[in-house]
Amino acid sequence: MCGIVGYLGGRQAAPILLEGLQKLEYRGYDSAGIAVIENNTIKLEKKAGKLAQLRGKFNGYLPDSTIGIGHTRWATHGRPNDVNAHPHLDCSGRFAVVHNGIIENYLPLREWLISRGHVFRSETDTEVLPHLIEEFYRGDLVQTMLRVVDKVNGSYALVVLSLDEPGRLVGVRRDSPLVVGLGEEENFFASDIPALLSHTRRTYILEDGEMAVLTPERVEVLDGGGSPVEKKLFMVQWEAKQAEKNGFDHFMLKEIYEQPRAVRDTLSGRIAPGGSGVVLNEINMTGEYLRRLNKIFITACGTAYHAGLVGKYVIESLARVPVEVDIASEFRYRNPLVDENALTIVISQSGETADTLAAQREAKRRGARVLAVTNVVDSSVAREADDVLYTWAGPEIAVASTKAYSTQLVAMYLVGLYLAQHRGTLPAGEISRMVEELRQLPDKVNAVLENGRNILEFVRRHCNRPSFFYIGRGLDYAVAMEGALKLKEISYIHAEAYAAGELKHGTLALIVEGVPVVALATQPALNKKMASNIKEVKARGATVLTVITGGMEEASIATASDKVIYIPETHPALAPVLAVVPLQLLAYHMAVARGCDVDQPRNLAKSVTVE
Ligand code: G6P
Repeated sequence: MCGIVGYLGGRQAAPILLEGLQKLEYRGYDSAGIAVIENNTIKLEKKAGKLAQLRGKFNGYLPDSTIGIGHTRWATHGRPNDVNAHPHLDCSGRFAVVHNGIIENYLPLREWLISRGHVFRSETDTEVLPHLIEEFYRGDLVQTMLRVVDKVNGSYALVVLSLDEPGRLVGVRRDSPLVVGLGEEENFFASDIPALLSHTRRTYILEDGEMAVLTPERVEVLDGGGSPVEKKLFMVQWEAKQAEKNGFDHFMLKEIYEQPRAVRDTLSGRIAPGGSGVVLNEINMTGEYLRRLNKIFITACGTAYHAGLVGKYVIESLARVPVEVDIASEFRYRNPLVDENALTIVISQSGETADTLAAQREAKRRGARVLAVTNVVDSSVAREADDVLYTWAGPEIAVASTKAYSTQLVAMYLVGLYLAQHRGTLPAGEISRMVEELRQLPDKVNAVLENGRNILEFVRRHCNRPSFFYIGRGLDYAVAMEGALKLKEISYIHAEAYAAGELKHGTLALIVEGVPVVALATQPALNKKMASNIKEVKARGATVLTVITGGMEEASIATASDKVIYIPETHPALAPVLAVVPLQLLAYHMAVARGCDVDQPRNLAKSVTVE
């Protein structure tokens, strides 16, 4: 999510840290900072905004030090400002920490630390780390870190600088990447390889639970129990441009593969202990308001609108509230029947889409409470909403949205379950069953990705077709719309999503010999009907690619299809998170096969700030 660099050796640390952070700029960030040891004190500089602003703080003078850590932050917990920027210090100023990821249990830890006399300065989850280190430190940073990681839940890559041990840096990771760069009489930490490439190609890639202890001369890697680990050297063969994409050819593909992590992070800290339900501490609606609620509007654009369509199905079925979904540019001009009893949910990855913002203002003007679902902390949509539920997908660089979509879906499930809990519309057993399925989603997304190459043969055969159809029923129809949009956006092939049952009312005329049809069949209750629709298009000569849930397939669907892609079994309501993955990969490989500019498609902007 954010970027980490660390250096110790014989050279000046500050310029190396700033240069390393610059190499991570492509990832997107909203603030940056460095900490070094100068004259036996930790010298800290951090600043909201770009690196140029941070450099400006030094006024031409960089501190004199040969050890330090640096960070570029993408806000999750707490606004993007100077105080929330990393590194963070303990009370005594003896420990500085940079951290990527999310500390799930930071609230109870923070309360406990405050009760022990610690004084917090920022709103971040990260700040519990330096205070925990201060609390546990008894003269050995490695032993201290073993205790600290035992206390924290969540995902992290973190590096610690200590005044008491000015000759070493300690870094540790779980569910967030951290790499050690090996130099001559100097060593490095980085969250991403581009930050290292101008210094070394010799690296150790840390595994989950591993801790690395760096001195200028030595690198020691320990497992979670503190025992030494024999690491294999990884020689980076990639060039800088490719390294930015972590070895993937495009940001879009990298982001598709980041979805297990993005989904896990978005769930992180939002599942009640024991999995009995969801906790959304960030939402301030009263129980009375949630019970009284008689209507929900969802409004958004593009991919976010498609997430809203899934939201409608999910919220209506879990919480039994009627939900209307509107494209934001339509909502504001149709005189919607919004009032103070209607909650309006706006969904926007960037939080800056002009149409979405205008729709939000219209809903507010009519007295509705607004819940924003966005990926960017302190974005316009977030600032103007009454409540915000952040998706923690991390910065999305490719114009075509992928990981933002899957985390928006997760947000819809969380909202649906949260409403159901308050409105008593779902038995406790059903809530915990769904929560358990939610927990398993990241691994299941991973399983779909592992079979991602299955699609290549289909792509090779059909990449020159002028037009595709996507069909599905219920939730599958909503996913079909997102699949068709992906194909249009990046491969410039005409694609149309259709409710499978509606084909026969006209569009079937366009299904002729060889037309590719992508069918979704992940909803057991609808699969018999889907089987008929697939046969209907097959009978007219279509070539059918079907995405189907393994284990519950309608046998005739598989036999009628030309190509079948199986996704793992899950709660049918959650299937969109899995079913969209092959569609994203299909669009991606089609675009590559046609020589399109995948990350920067024509006529599209990442954030559309004009109406
Ligand atoms: C643009 C982008 C789409 C995105 C849409 C909504 O059209 O190209 O990828 O889905 O805006 O963006 P938002 O940031 O509001 O989710």
